Amino acid sequence: MKINNGLMVLPGMADVHVHLRVPGGEHKEDYRTGSAAALAGGITSLMAMPNTTPPIITLEDWQTAQKKANEESLCDVALFAGASVTFLESLPELSRYAPALKLYMDLTYGELRVDGLDNLARIAQLWPREKVLALHAEGDSVKTGLDLAKKYHRRVHFCHISRKEEIEWIAAAKNQGLLVTCEVTPHHLFLNESDAKRLGPLGDMRPRLAKQSDLDALWAHINTTIDCVASDHAPHTLAEKQNSENPPPGVPGLESTLPLLLTAAAEGRLSYERLVALLAVNPRRIYGLPEQPETWIEVDPKACYVFPEHSLYTKCGWSPFSGFPVQGRIRKVVLRGKDAVKDGVVHEFVR
Ligand code: DOR
Ligand code: ZN
Ligand code: ZN
Repeated sequence: MKINNGLMVLPGMADVHVHLRVPGGEHKEDYRTGSAAALAGGITSLMAMPNTTPPIITLEDWQTAQKKANEESLCDVALFAGASVTFLESLPELSRYAPALKLYMDLTYGELRVDGLDNLARIAQLWPREKVLALHAEGDSVKTGLDLAKKYHRRVHFCHISRKEEIEWIAAAKNQGLLVTCEVTPHHLFLNESDAKRLGPLGDMRPRLAKQSDLDALWAHINTTIDCVASDHAPHTLAEKQNSENPPPGVPGLESTLPLLLTAAAEGRLSYERLVALLAVNPRRIYGLPEQPETWIEVDPKACYVFPEHSLYTKCGWSPFSGFPVQGRIRKVVLRGKDAVKDGVVHEFVR
């Protein structure tokens, strides 16, 4: 690890699971605020999910959104396309442009969901085998996803794995040589069911927070089965979370992911090298994200503070990790040779 004047020089991080709410949810987040939050959190490259309003499911939707993302974002943003039974035939064409397809197998926020084994099998056959098919799969759906990977000899990436049995199934599948990868979120690594009780609606997301034994199992696989850590940044306003009959699931995470992982590294729960593999090297490799020349971050690994140290850049303005003591301060973010962040201030950004 390169150390310069007491600062650790690390690659810009890549967060491959982010909800930016464009189109249709811009009061929660937009490309500018979301990408500013990413930079503030040491993330220089992100991938945004398609469960927007309306969802991003056709080539035209995807091209329009990707163009807007390129124009408005402060860091690199690549967009997933969403799988929908209405547009099965257009998947091969879509695959020539979109870097990956997101398939929702279980109920969560938004209307994107594909039901029925036949539909799942068709999608697994129509989306190119070597391109990532990313699954929102919980419980038995993980098993179904593994079956698809095996039957169609294809790549499958499991989003936000959160349960002991799920990570063990994936470990077994990897041992058999299946082309599968998986990610975990910081909230499933650092928060358990008691935190869910304490946080109320602010601790509700899909998959839900799990038992301490599930957290322990995830940590036991941190150096092996788990390929990457991604935030599943899912911003909703405080009013939506706290004052509605049916609060939407999801928590923001772009600004807390790296501080939490740096804290775990300072405590010796994983090495700094492993942190870089999970947050920078592996996510870029899985999705084939482009290298970013002259891009790095500088971190003071000794600095201790209470999160968040500065007001948050995410438009939703809250975090389930507020009040957490953390160790590891992001001092600087350089993107393509330009200072993007210095001591908590994102440049080129007017609040
Ligand atoms: O908690 C969640 N929120 N899980 C998801 O799968 C979707 C996300 C959202 O978009 O808010
Ligand atoms: Zn999901
Ligand atoms: Zn998500």
